[in-house]
Amino acid sequence: MSLRTRKMELKLLAATTRLLGPWHLRVIRDELVPTGSLDPRFEQLVPMVQPYTLLSIDRLFVLYRLVESSAPIPGNIAEAGIFRGGSLRLLREAARGFAPDKTVHGFDSFSGLPSPSRQVDGQFHAQGDFAAGMNEVSQYLSTRGPSDIQLHRVLFAPGMPSAPDSGEPWALVHLDLDLRDSVAGALSFFEPHVSRGGYVIIDDYGFRSTPGAREAVNAYCRVRKLTPIYFPTGQALIVKPERQT
Ligand SMILES: C[S@@+](CC[C@H](N)C(=O)[O-])C[C@H]1O[C@@H](n2cnc3c(N)ncnc32)[C@H](O)[C@@H]1O
Repeated sequence: MSLRTRKMELKLLAATTRLLGPWHLRVIRDELVPTGSLDPRFEQLVPMVQPYTLLSIDRLFVLYRLVESSAPIPGNIAEAGIFRGGSLRLLREAARGFAPDKTVHGFDSFSGLPSPSRQVDGQFHAQGDFAAGMNEVSQYLSTRGPSDIQLHRVLFAPGMPSAPDSGEPWALVHLDLDLRDSVAGALSFFEPHVSRGGYVIIDDYGFRSTPGAREAVNAYCRVRKLTPIYFPTGQALIVKPERQT
């Protein structure tokens, strides 16, 4: 589809939805966004992060609001699966406004995806996809002054031990790792240290191109008796229960 046709289509859709309601969609930078997302600070952040992220605006907006919701919850913010750094920066910038005392941590192999398991992850991805080095990411994160985001080189894998208990708890964890084994490893690394009432938000859960992510989340939640909430954005949210059996 040409850019012109796409723009026409978006204009038509926006006009139709305005007339029909109740969805109220608006076009921001060529993407349809629910008007519930109208938030001047968020809209200012979009151009800063959009060229450096694979996430659509609606998924970024979910992250933005989760930073707000998790602000009173004890613990820091983590992202596993950074690529070029866009969603990580969104988390940091949102925390500046909603939770300035929280530290933001980014975890990645910085060498792209490990080898997918063809049977569970399908044919869509290959080893080394989404490779961005730590220097490249650091440069982007510090384009407007020194960054205080802490970067960690980690390879998530099933059966890896959870982070040591002595560490800070997490209030919010964003997983964007695409593959089953990566997501499984990261869930067992982070989730036991998420504060009660805290959040794990997983990208990729609803996408055809990443079936392994959903499998990992469902398997983990079955064992831990957690319930993933599936959003129309394709993300899934786990809210750590106040009490766990
Ligand atoms: C889809 S990209 C992340 C996109 C990013 N959140 C954004 O804003 O565009 C997936 C990332 O996960 C990382 N990754 C995947 N599996 C991993 C694993 N097992 N351990 C560490 N990093 C992994 C890749 O290196 C890549 O940076």
